[in-house]
Amino acid sequence: MKIATPLVAWQRTHGRHGLPWQQTRDPYRVWLSEIMLQQTQVTAVIPYYQKFLIRFPDVARLACAPSQEVMAHWAGLGYYARARNLHACAQRVMQDWGGDFPPDAQGLATLPGIGPSTAAAIAAFCYGERSAILDGNVKRVLARYFAIDGDPTTRAIEQTLWQLARNELPTAARLRRDPMMMTAHTQGLMDLGATVCTRSRAQCTQCPLKKGCAAFAQGRVEELPWPRAKKKLPERSTGMLIACHRGKVLLQQRPDTGIWGGLWSLPEFDGGLSAKAGCDQLGVTVSKMQQLSAFLHVFTHYRLTIEPVLAHASSTRIAAANESNTKQTEWVPLSQLSARGMPAPVRKLLDGLLADQLLG
Ligand code: ADE
Repeated sequence: MKIATPLVAWQRTHGRHGLPWQQTRDPYRVWLSEIMLQQTQVTAVIPYYQKFLIRFPDVARLACAPSQEVMAHWAGLGYYARARNLHACAQRVMQDWGGDFPPDAQGLATLPGIGPSTAAAIAAFCYGERSAILDGNVKRVLARYFAIDGDPTTRAIEQTLWQLARNELPTAARLRRDPMMMTAHTQGLMDLGATVCTRSRAQCTQCPLKKGCAAFAQGRVEELPWPRAKKKLPERSTGMLIACHRGKVLLQQRPDTGIWGGLWSLPEFDGGLSAKAGCDQLGVTVSKMQQLSAFLHVFTHYRLTIEPVLAHASSTRIAAANESNTKQTEWVPLSQLSARGMPAPVRKLLDGLLADQLLG
């Protein structure tokens, strides 16, 4: 049984229609939303999306903005490579495409940060192109509907799922009669995966596809798709220095590449260096130091234990930049912390200390 007919009917009556990026076919807005929505929930994205568009209302203004500002508007959404690619992509659209996004999925997929599924989603929403998407949610819907065993993150299973996704597209003849059908089909797959065919506690009684769903018929909804084979992530740890002096905190800007690229963070000390040695290296003299509770931050590729040390500095003197201290280091007034783009765990740490009035 084919998916498109019941899926599109369901999307039109029960799917999501009021999301801010659904009111437009402007590729800039749709592209921005799709990049923000990669690995991130709709509710988390909405405020970022709206603020981003106020500051960068079109691709030209994004392309010519300083990368620091782009990073600051992304701070807190995570996966910062997305923001670096976003900026690079806007510049490519200006330089290579005269300021207009490529007119089809194939062209879109040549741009930085736009993979085949994102390219297909943008082309379906903006141009009504007949192209298949396959993000994590869609993989789950299809793996259940066709009862596909195997880890869907492996190449072989992924290829099978792509083929199924293409087979299930509305026919070209139907799209000629109903040109908005591609939008409803694409959004329908996303909505079904996000709201009905969820990872745990799927709501099969509400599902428009249950009649043809093999996993439902076999009572295997809970066990499909197979979970990703768990890799043990490497463990790392770092000390973070929270040096304060008369209403100011010492911040350091991260290099443009690597984790938290371009964001303002706390100076780190590691490799067996004590907090005191870390202070010496920065040229900061401290009168009092206190070890705070360590906490864990999980990245895609490793687990980082953060060991914060609170230090009261005797002055705002810092060493002049030298080989081991070439990073931009600044005493920032507490009142200006909210204006700096910061990694989420650092922001949380500083907010907690501010609330407890420990940043003197
Ligand atoms: N996730 C990815 N794209 C989406 C969209 N257009 N609407 C809702 N969730 C999404």
